[in-house]
Amino acid sequence: MDTSFVAREQSRLLGELSGFLSIPSVSALPAHAGDCRRAAEWLRDELAGLGCPVVQIIEGNGHPVVWAESPPVPGRPTLLIYGHYDVQPPDPLDEWISPPFEPTVREGRLYARGAADDKGQVFCLLKAYEATLDATRRPPLNVRFIFEGEEESGGHVIEDLLHAEPERTRADAALVCDMSYYAPGWPAVYTALRGLCYAEITVRTLQRDLHSGTYGGVAPNALETLVRLLARLKDADGEIQVPKLYKAVEPPSKAELKGWKQLPFDKAAYLRDEVTAQVLTGLREYSVFERVWALPTFEIHGIKGGFVGEGAKTVIPAQAMAKVSLRLVPGQSYAKVGKQLERAVASLAPRWADAQVRLLHGGDPVQVDVDHPAFAVLDEAFATVTGRTAVRIRAGGSIPVVPDLGLGGAPVLLTGIGLPDDGLHSPNEKLDLAQLWSGIEIFGRFFEQFAEQGGAASSPPPPA
Ligand code: BES
Ligand code: MN
Repeated sequence: MDTSFVAREQSRLLGELSGFLSIPSVSALPAHAGDCRRAAEWLRDELAGLGCPVVQIIEGNGHPVVWAESPPVPGRPTLLIYGHYDVQPPDPLDEWISPPFEPTVREGRLYARGAADDKGQVFCLLKAYEATLDATRRPPLNVRFIFEGEEESGGHVIEDLLHAEPERTRADAALVCDMSYYAPGWPAVYTALRGLCYAEITVRTLQRDLHSGTYGGVAPNALETLVRLLARLKDADGEIQVPKLYKAVEPPSKAELKGWKQLPFDKAAYLRDEVTAQVLTGLREYSVFERVWALPTFEIHGIKGGFVGEGAKTVIPAQAMAKVSLRLVPGQSYAKVGKQLERAVASLAPRWADAQVRLLHGGDPVQVDVDHPAFAVLDEAFATVTGRTAVRIRAGGSIPVVPDLGLGGAPVLLTGIGLPDDGLHSPNEKLDLAQLWSGIEIFGRFFEQFAEQGGAASSPPPPA
């Protein structure tokens, strides 16, 4: 690993990353479809520039996937690298200190939407790859790159591709760099990700909106009906009232719980600085880690209905809608929970209301066995650069395609160079540049060490 690479190339790298982050590749907003394509093209050009002989933009029903193959390196293992080039919508815009798509450095941190989630981390892997190329642009191992543009918005292009062509996942390991350290100085590998079931609940109680004076007192209000229904889906103690929801939940092992107890954790600082609230909610008999990593959740993301314009309008709304989601944990599945939610809403809604559940998207939870030797190689790279091996933790968040990355039997290494205060999905998302620079060295070392030790013996057979 050329350890002078970062020092030498820093200003070029910062310029390149700023260019990538300037593209507003917001996958959820149709108006940004062209920007998503531009981000895919940016990656295509970058990968071609790095000397990949195969670089493709693969079309599907949504934003495209970018696929690339390094020059073949016979006798060396194959690593599949995943990332996403799409980002979350940047709103609320007026809370950004500098605009979300004008990357700005303040105090060693690069502020932009996607800085940490996930364009900055994708960039880190590309530059680690670049740093390990020899004079003929040959990497130390075989690398397949797969980058999607719909991770944040529930598209299916990458899943359709991997189901149709599972041989693309045939690798000795898959690397997903879309997560964060446990704390500054504490790198992490993740043993599980939560799944997701995202839905819209719509309630109609009247054929049309009514005058709230003339009919107030007798006409059923759709917004009130929806709010009562939502309130019954989770009780005040935090227990979700979807029948049988908790039945499939597999509790973490004693060893895993013991590992979590050993993590440094300052509950008061967590409450004040990260959660920014006065209290923690949820099931009191469980630890914070169990609540955010090992239990399902039910959240209301937004409610639409009635009048929210300037001034006052006295109306009884006929219809109302809420966006909600459940996070799922090992043992649960998106398909089952979706049905359970539909049944719960049907049974909680009053007879005289038309209540509909529309499942928007989701993904299954994953659990990763971190005993594969690839994890030891990653630990060694982290230890060399940061002085610490990676702690084993779980993620509260979700990456829907991860179960499919393992279709070819590769162990999936879930890790990242972010920090807990990066502000993913929030205004003023950032990436600490020190994390980026050290990340390039960490993954460069990982590529080189995995090339030597990474199961060349267990190299996958060539496709039939
Ligand atoms: N990078 C996150 C996932 C993540 C967040 C992992 C925190 C570990 C810790 C990812 O880009 C993300 O936000 N995913 C969405 C997926 C959803 C829209 C299907 C999520 O978790 O909300
Ligand atoms: Mn992400």
